[in-house]
Amino acid sequence: MKVLLLGSGGREHAIARALLADPQVSELFVAPGNPGTAAIATNVSLDPLDGSAVAEWALAHGIDLAVIGPETPLVVGVADVLVAAGIPTFGPSAAAAHLEGSKAFAKEIMAAAGIPTAAAHVCRDLASVRAAMTEFGSPYVIKYDGLAAGKGVVVTADPEAALAHAESCLSLPGSQIVVEDYLDGPEVSLFCISDGETVVPLQPAQDFKRALDGDAGPNTGGMGAYSPLPWAPAGLVDEVVLQVAIPVIREMERRGIPFVGVLYCGLALTSRGTRVIEFNARFGDPETQVVLPRLATPLGSLLLAAAEGRLAEFGELEWRDRAAVTVVVAAEGYPGVSTLGGPVEGIEEAEAREGVHVIHAGTQMTPQGLVASGGRVLSVVGEGADLESARMRVYSGVDLISLHGSHHRRDIAQRAAEGH
Ligand SMILES: Nc1ncnc2c1ncn2[C@@H]1O[C@H](COP(=O)(O)OP(=O)(O)O)[C@@H](O)[C@H]1O
Ligand SMILES: [Mg+2]
Repeated sequence: MKVLLLGSGGREHAIARALLADPQVSELFVAPGNPGTAAIATNVSLDPLDGSAVAEWALAHGIDLAVIGPETPLVVGVADVLVAAGIPTFGPSAAAAHLEGSKAFAKEIMAAAGIPTAAAHVCRDLASVRAAMTEFGSPYVIKYDGLAAGKGVVVTADPEAALAHAESCLSLPGSQIVVEDYLDGPEVSLFCISDGETVVPLQPAQDFKRALDGDAGPNTGGMGAYSPLPWAPAGLVDEVVLQVAIPVIREMERRGIPFVGVLYCGLALTSRGTRVIEFNARFGDPETQVVLPRLATPLGSLLLAAAEGRLAEFGELEWRDRAAVTVVVAAEGYPGVSTLGGPVEGIEEAEAREGVHVIHAGTQMTPQGLVASGGRVLSVVGEGADLESARMRVYSGVDLISLHGSHHRRDIAQRAAEGH
């Protein structure tokens, strides 16, 4: 099978690596890809947002499966163009990706399907924001409705800061925000693969959103992740599939907008039960880096079955009995203005360590060598028999990476590895 993967981040390098481990995948193209995907597959210079250019290229090259990594091409309808051109495509239509593209729409679907989530109000002016804040109380949760690359949500006990965020979101024409009740408790990410009808869950992961150790500092796109979650309740995956994923897939089907792709369930395990924080319409970054290396089932065959509506016949997934931890190496200043262009060294040395591989997230190859080109530069992955061993391995790799001014967290998976 010839596969075309759209995207250029750490998630896509991790997906590419997993696709290539599937013996059915004979050729892999990544558009536009990054230096990490260039080393294992063929990068193609195509704009992933230009659906017709992608479809034309895919038809000319006999692509059997297109996989769309990031949310932006999904939300603008690249999957629709590929499907219309007859290309089996893993990734939802624009209408279905609205589950991620509008938090208000996601709330509407959850209300219609009876899915447990935080109580919320959709607001279009500051007066209704104030009223909702008074109703829910502190801490305040203020969310921009649309895609915001991880920068749209503010959770704060400070009413002035909450209102300031609401005001800046509402200053965009036609915008709306969601004000919701605060959810307490650990967060879990669960990826569910769907062909529009059948749901196949992957194993859960936890990511670390704050920039600094001890969950201090500003929110980021994600500073690390691990899987499995030894502390999670035994029935969690079944519960989320039955109470969340299947009802969403049914509701979308009922509305004539079947969801084909990854339904990413962002969950809070509160004292009152599991609640949905949000949905995404694609694999998460960096959770993908720790979930896919544990999946023994060939990924290309799984995603093709989803794209072709054959998941019901696909059967149970198989997992490797091992743990994975990833640590993101970020450029100086990230998540603020990041210092880019510095040389990145030590990847080969890190990968020479047992159970360590390095995923490229924001790197670029120049005549002078590999340099940092994005805030999150690398995502180092360690695999081992358990979380403790995976943690030791990942940090032995991280310690060999050099990038001037870079920073990373030292406590990824620490509490879970220590058994609490
Ligand atoms: N209702 C809530 N209660 C507490 N924290 C929340 C709530 N909603 C979101 N958060 C926090 O904000 C983060 C980002 O919110 P999310 O809805 O996932 O938006 P996005 O990923 O698009 O930025 C979540 O991972 C969580 O840590
Ligand atoms: Mg989120």
